[in-house]
Amino acid sequence: MTDFSSARFVVTGTASGIGASVAEKLLAAGAQVHSLDRNTPSAAVTTHTEVDLANPRSIDAALEHLEGSFTGLINVAGIPGTAPAEAVVAVNALAVRHLTELLVGRIERGGSVVVVSSTAGYNWPARLEQIRELLATKTFEEGAAWFKEHPQEGNAYNFSKEVATVYAMYMAVPLLATGIRINAVTPGPVETPILADFEETMGKDTLDGVKGLLGRHAQPGDIADAVLFLASPQSRWINGHALVADGGLTGGVLSGVVPAPEI
Ligand SMILES: NC(=O)c1ccc[n+]([C@@H]2O[C@H](COP(=O)([O-])OP(=O)(O)OC[C@H]3O[C@@H](n4cnc5c(N)ncnc54)[C@H](O)[C@@H]3O)[C@@H](O)[C@H]2O)c1
Repeated sequence: MTDFSSARFVVTGTASGIGASVAEKLLAAGAQVHSLDRNTPSAAVTTHTEVDLANPRSIDAALEHLEGSFTGLINVAGIPGTAPAEAVVAVNALAVRHLTELLVGRIERGGSVVVVSSTAGYNWPARLEQIRELLATKTFEEGAAWFKEHPQEGNAYNFSKEVATVYAMYMAVPLLATGIRINAVTPGPVETPILADFEETMGKDTLDGVKGLLGRHAQPGDIADAVLFLASPQSRWINGHALVADGGLTGGVLSGVVPAPEI
């Protein structure tokens, strides 16, 4: 296990699922965890600040409560496609950008930003032009206005995760001068409370089919370990990468061994 004893991480989404597991594992490895969530985390985090990631002013206010510099930022919080499309894009994509850009100046050289995206964003190359247009907007509000004017086909969750995945790739070069790396993790289905919402939007049969193929869904800790690797110096030359943590599904789909699930 990596020794994180002098590390200080800001982690979102700590109140449940993957973010709770990331917080527990970082704390067990000796790190300080500064939690941002709209709900109270279960782990004994170092500090917790309540935030509504759908609201940029709430993010700004939350950051005023955080003191000092950090080893990294781990963006885990997210909402499923059962929520209104604007909220999904706000929390899963625009908040990730807003928070990352506000915090980058306080992350030490050698530090790391991790974005928990999703395999639901795997088809980003087909929409790269639109994603780059959204990312070319300068602020959270402008990004939200762009999305309102450019409604996207399909579930907003997929689009939000395409943006989150591309954001991690897109920022690697601009961040080189700061000495901070940025990467994404793209999980497939994980046994957490939002899985029921995914069954609703993506189809229970589809997700059961994935489970049948792989033998099980992921547990939060399966994803948290991939996150900790990207947050640690062990991944020092990995930058602008979207690490698939899905038990083999994406490999099977991309190589034509199994058909892409209809989500
Ligand atoms: N569970 C899966 O199958 C799965 C698969 C792929 C990707 N993901 C992604 O992993 C991340 C974590 O999901 P999870 O499965 O742990 O879900 P979860 O519902 O268990 O946890 C989500 C966390 O985000 C927080 N959150 C949601 N909206 C917020 C807001 N507006 N402001 C502040 N905090 C907010 C919640 O309070 C909660 O702590 C999400 O980004 C999700 O899209 C999950």
